[in-house]
Amino acid sequence: MSDDSDLFSASAVAAARIAELRGELERHNRLYYEEAAPVISDALYDRLYAELVALEQKHPQFVTPDSPTQRVGGRPLEQFSQVPHLSPMLSLDNTYSEEEVGKFFVRLEKLLPGHAVPTVIEPKIDGVAISLVYRDGKLSHAATRGDGTVGDDVTRNVCTIRSIPQQLGGPAEAIPPLIEVRGEIYLPKARFAEINEERQAEGLPVFANPRNAAAGSLKQLDSAIVAGRGLDAIFYSTGALEPAPGHEWKTHREALAGLKAFGLPVHDWLAIAESVGEVLGAIRRLDVERHGFLSETDGAVIKLDSFAQRQRVGHTAKSPRWAMAYKYKAEQAETRLHDITIQVGRTGVLTPVAELEPVFVSGSTVARATLHNEEEIARKDIRKGDIVVIEKAGEVIPAVVEVRTARRTGAEEVFRMPANCPVCGGPVSREEGQVAVRCLNPFCPAQVKRRMEHFASRGAMDIEGLGEAMVELLVTNQLATNIAQLYHLTAEQLATLPRSGEKSIANLLAAIEASKSRPLWRLLFGLGILHVGVTSARSLADHFGTLDRLMAATEDDLQTLPDVGPVVAPAIVNHFVREENRQLIEELRAAGLNFGERDEPRDTRRQGGKLAGTWVITGTLSRPRDEIAEAIRDQGGKVVGSVSKKTSYLLAGEEAGSKLAKAEKLGIRIVTESELQAMIEDQGD
Ligand code: IVH
Repeated sequence: MSDDSDLFSASAVAAARIAELRGELERHNRLYYEEAAPVISDALYDRLYAELVALEQKHPQFVTPDSPTQRVGGRPLEQFSQVPHLSPMLSLDNTYSEEEVGKFFVRLEKLLPGHAVPTVIEPKIDGVAISLVYRDGKLSHAATRGDGTVGDDVTRNVCTIRSIPQQLGGPAEAIPPLIEVRGEIYLPKARFAEINEERQAEGLPVFANPRNAAAGSLKQLDSAIVAGRGLDAIFYSTGALEPAPGHEWKTHREALAGLKAFGLPVHDWLAIAESVGEVLGAIRRLDVERHGFLSETDGAVIKLDSFAQRQRVGHTAKSPRWAMAYKYKAEQAETRLHDITIQVGRTGVLTPVAELEPVFVSGSTVARATLHNEEEIARKDIRKGDIVVIEKAGEVIPAVVEVRTARRTGAEEVFRMPANCPVCGGPVSREEGQVAVRCLNPFCPAQVKRRMEHFASRGAMDIEGLGEAMVELLVTNQLATNIAQLYHLTAEQLATLPRSGEKSIANLLAAIEASKSRPLWRLLFGLGILHVGVTSARSLADHFGTLDRLMAATEDDLQTLPDVGPVVAPAIVNHFVREENRQLIEELRAAGLNFGERDEPRDTRRQGGKLAGTWVITGTLSRPRDEIAEAIRDQGGKVVGSVSKKTSYLLAGEEAGSKLAKAEKLGIRIVTESELQAMIEDQGD
């Protein structure tokens, strides 16, 4: 073959591969950005992308403006109206290599000869990019990235996020006439785990990771659903900006302080570096500390601090030259999958679970991982006996990401969902259009146990001492085979159980007794009505006031509530129609549980509670904010996100910033955490 034809065939091969890579990347972009359901890992996406960049660099004649390398992200969704960004939302160059970070820093030094190049290193939040526009301090709209130029208008959904102010705070003279703020909407890791647990129990598809869950939530057309998800946000830059005179920012650090003073949430982890060594040191430090953050943090972003220097180095069509993202490799481990067992959930959903040879990954030993459903197993072709790759989704939930098919021996077994419930032997069914297979026997011991655990859990009736192990003992020994029977347990009965001392028996009985007077919403949530999460349970309790009024409600009555839509309303009605549920409720009534005060104006107890009034929480506290807010609400307080004249109390933790200053200025009562505790414990009412 001549040299010419060699060359020709080489470029033909390159052209074919380029076309193939573009197709693949387009597909994954669509799955990632538009459907929020990626099927490959970020690392693999980045590898494909890097291969395309390399090929295009080698064969520039094939570069076209529609190549994924020349565009940012995916196209906006159809259902939302579109808003143009005031300034383009660029992306960042990504790397997994410390060497590349070093080169980036050296390039900055070359572009800015004779100057120090102070950089900031901050957490890269794994969420969904968002752009907010505030005009004269008032939130005008919120948009997703979209294609970088035009995004989806998600204002209504963003307004459900409590930490995002509708009105910028701080001194009036500092408020810019116009500011476009950029950041990330994320789902806290703990909420991700909770939501997936609930979805699993209800037979709904689970989210692969917190990022998908955030993207999926933000793209809900029903804001009521978004409100229940518990999204949060962190902001890290600005787009278009007309600063208030005398309030121009010269550095990134000043900008972050400014955003914080406006009451926008910013990350409190930040490092400054002036050399490659310092940059790498900060990146490694962040790698350790990120595990303690509320949000999933998948990397570090390195940025020039000085805006004047940023201006000088400029940007390409796609990304700034003054910033770079370093991504941490997801920790993975290989292990053998010994078996696939079946777990039966609270609503009877059968979930296949991987039983693994224990392996250490991301800080703990993993021996089991949910495989979600039959489709998921078939899609990944997971077989009993396979060597599999384990990762933690959202750093919390162990997941099987891949099978090492090359290491198969032929002895591996294909999985089939059983035709009967493996616990009670009863029939199972699969509803039209659903992936979930359910055991149809409501008295199935597995379902009974899971329902009892849910009823007693912290988020529901909060019965201390009634965890998984105790429930197992009670149900297996037939001391309690439904939740109502818990209220008839005696010390003598409990004494027959293994390892039960007098003290623990007394504590358990006291905890069960105390649960009788829990607020109605806890009971409603605890009943495990399909689709009724904490948020809907609260609004149902507030609206109807008593369980009887709720049970008498029609679908139309229910749908008048903002948190209840066409899915939730029939689920509630169906729950109360079923004879076994009505029977159970009568037993609970006879046991003396609080069903809400009949015929009293609703919410009297809460309105007259010890902490009545409007509360704002700020600063670092000893317990999670949600927990504290919950305690305040339990005592009749209302918790809101920002300080105004209407605020009654500001609960201020360590390092409280602008909210504290504003509250002081407005003469609002400032309460410390220990003062709050004293107010709660105060017996004087
Ligand atoms: S700065 C001009 N800072 O990661 C680009 N981005 O892969 C400005 N991200 O597009 C982005 N944390 O959506 C920046 N601390 C952070 C970030 C961050 C997460 C996202 C952002 C960006 C993407 C790049």
